[in-house]
Parts: sequence; structure tokens; C-alpha cells
Amino acid sequence: MRTRQTITMMSLVVLLANTVPCMAGQNVPALKDVFTNHFLIGGALNRNVVTGRDPNAAAIAEKHFNTATAENDLKWQRVHPRLDQYNWEPADSFVAFCEKHQMVVIGHCLVWHSQVPRWVFLDDSENALTRDALLSRMRDHILTVVGRYKGRIKGWDVVNEALNEDGTLRNTQWLQIIGEGAENKQYDYIENAFRWAHEADPDAELYYNDYSLETSRAKCDGAVAIVKHLKSKGIRIDGVGIQLHGSLAHPSVEGLEYAITSLAATGVKVMVTELDIRTQARGYRGADVSQVSRQNTSDPSAAAAETQKKLADKYAEIFSVLLKHEKDITRVTFWGVYDATSWIGGSPLLFDRNYQPKEAFFAVVKTKTSHEGRQDGTDGEP
Ligand code: XIL
Repeated sequence: MRTRQTITMMSLVVLLANTVPCMAGQNVPALKDVFTNHFLIGGALNRNVVTGRDPNAAAIAEKHFNTATAENDLKWQRVHPRLDQYNWEPADSFVAFCEKHQMVVIGHCLVWHSQVPRWVFLDDSENALTRDALLSRMRDHILTVVGRYKGRIKGWDVVNEALNEDGTLRNTQWLQIIGEGAENKQYDYIENAFRWAHEADPDAELYYNDYSLETSRAKCDGAVAIVKHLKSKGIRIDGVGIQLHGSLAHPSVEGLEYAITSLAATGVKVMVTELDIRTQARGYRGADVSQVSRQNTSDPSAAAAETQKKLADKYAEIFSVLLKHEKDITRVTFWGVYDATSWIGGSPLLFDRNYQPKEAFFAVVKTKTSHEGRQDGTDGEP
């Protein structure tokens, strides 16, 4: 009898432990509603969210996001692991999840130097492909992947991270092989990627996406040059994604405004595509995936009130700038749903590891009230 009671009690505890996080935070406003007249709000979704293995994270996404990006499911490595083999199941389930919850679907990403298999650049004898062979491989990939989701994926990050910090083109295998080291061919792979994405889905929006655009003016100018080049050739480009992997000290208001205004001046939309704020004070600070490792992303000070206050202040500053430039900003996407899903560890998102909204969440919501207060001449208080 005792044992049975104990088991029943234990089941109750387990049940409560599983439901409490889900219930808490239910009374907070939905971010997508708060910013409905300003820009879309979204998040990167991982496998656990999409498949229902992390139901509390899925509940946050459903409540707060009206757009979502596949964190990894549409990257070349996952969707096209071998020359003759596509792996559609993850991407299909991501797109189905978004459609079920009426989220605008964003495809990330077609051409990137990272998370792309080695074979892509090699022939059968393991020698580097010729320019024509690589172009044809890239074309097949883009036509197949974009074509499959024609009419269902609203916008694509066509080229991701093609720039160095100084604004020159990154020396990737795409550039080396397709550019053949020739000055007049340096944009060729980018041009062709955009052309073929447009051919595969003429209604899809096409974006260039990169990090540090808000911290390096030279890099931002490099992105402006890409947009101008594509436009000068009559090639479709709809937007530039500022990834915005920030830190407690970055970006500055000036840096972010410089990026938004100079990109928007070229006539494209600007979107924040991978927002998170690194809380760790030490270690690598950038957003180069090859340098971020889970081993060095722990953050002992993450829970400290001081850290959370700084995080809230930085988020509030960023959202105030985004609201100020709302006519140019179409979307703000967080890179993850809650802290445990973040690729950089620490405490970089708006929801903590127990799925609870953090001080930063409330600070972000408040920026909207203050913004409207500024616009109608009141101080934003009720
Ligand atoms: C990251 C994912 O979040 C990780 O799960 C993966 O292991 C590495 O890539 N810039 C990008 C994203 O454009 O695709 C990266 O996503 C983060 C940096």
C-alpha cells in the first residue's frame, strides 16, 4: 500500500514538474502580438522543437512566433548529404510544423562554406572540381531544394557569410573554384546562386545573410556592395539579414543604425535573422561557427541578477533601435527558442532553461510601449 502511495505521489510530482514550466508564463503577452504592427517575430527551430520531443519549447514557439527558420534542417550537410541522396524528412517536418502554426517559413541556407560536405567540391578522384562542374552542382542543389518547397518557403538565405571582417570576399571554396581567382569573376558564385534560386521559385524572397554587419562598417559596406552589384545586373535580391549575434557590450546603437540605414538605402529590406546576446565575458566573442564550441560556452554568471539586468538593457537598446527604424525592418528572428537550445550556451535568449520569461523578455515588451508613447507624445505609461 505504502509503495503504491509513494508511486502515485511520485507520478504526481513528475506530472507537475512537466506541466509547471508550460503553465508558467502563460499570462505574458505573445511577442508576435506585441510587435504585430512593426515586424514579424520568430525563432530558429531545432529537431526537438519540431518533432515534439521538447513540447514546452514548441509551446513557446507557437505562442510567440509568427515566423521560423530551420536551425540546421535545410543546410547542405543535412538536406543533401551525398551526391545522389537528399534527406527530406527533417526539412519536410520543419516546414509542416510552421504551416501547422501559421508561421512564415524561412529557408536557411543555400550556399555557405560551413556545414557543407567535402564531396561537394571534389570529383570522383578527390581532385578539386572545375568551375563549370561546381556551378552545375550548385545549380542542381538550388533548383532541387528551392523547387521542392516552391510556394511554401517565403524567403531564402541564398548566400550566407560570404564576407571577411574587412569587407572583402571570404576565400571559400565557392570563391576559389567559381571565382578562379579572377577579379571580374569574384561575384560569380553569388550571382548564380541568386539567379537559380529565383528560377526555382520566382515568388520567393531572396536574402544575403551575414554576421558582424552591425559591428564592422567595412563588412557592412561589403554587403552593400554585393546588393548593388546584384541590382546592377538586374538580379533579384529582396533583403539583407543582419544575424546580430551580440554580446553584453555589442552592438553599439551607432553600429546597428549604420548597418540598418546603409543597407536600407540600397532599396532592400533589412531583417535581424539570428538574434542572441552572449552573456559570457570571456572567450571567443564572434559568430564564426568554427570557433564556437559547446565546451567553452558555459557561463557561471548567467543567473546573476547583474548579468540578467545587463542582458535586459542590451535587448531593450536593440529593440528601441529596431522600432525606430521599423519602416526598414521586416522581421526579427531569435537564434533559438530558450536558453537550453542556444548554440552559444550561457543565457543569451529571452526564456531561461526552465522555459520562464526573463527580465529581458519584459524589457523587450516594454520597448514597444515606450516607442508608442514617444510617437503619441506621452511617456508610454498607461
Ligand atoms: C549554428 C547552429 O545553431 C548550430 O546548431 C550548428 O551546430 C552550427 O550552426 N550563423 C549561421 C547559423 O548562419 O547557421 C549558425 O547556426 C550560427 C551562426
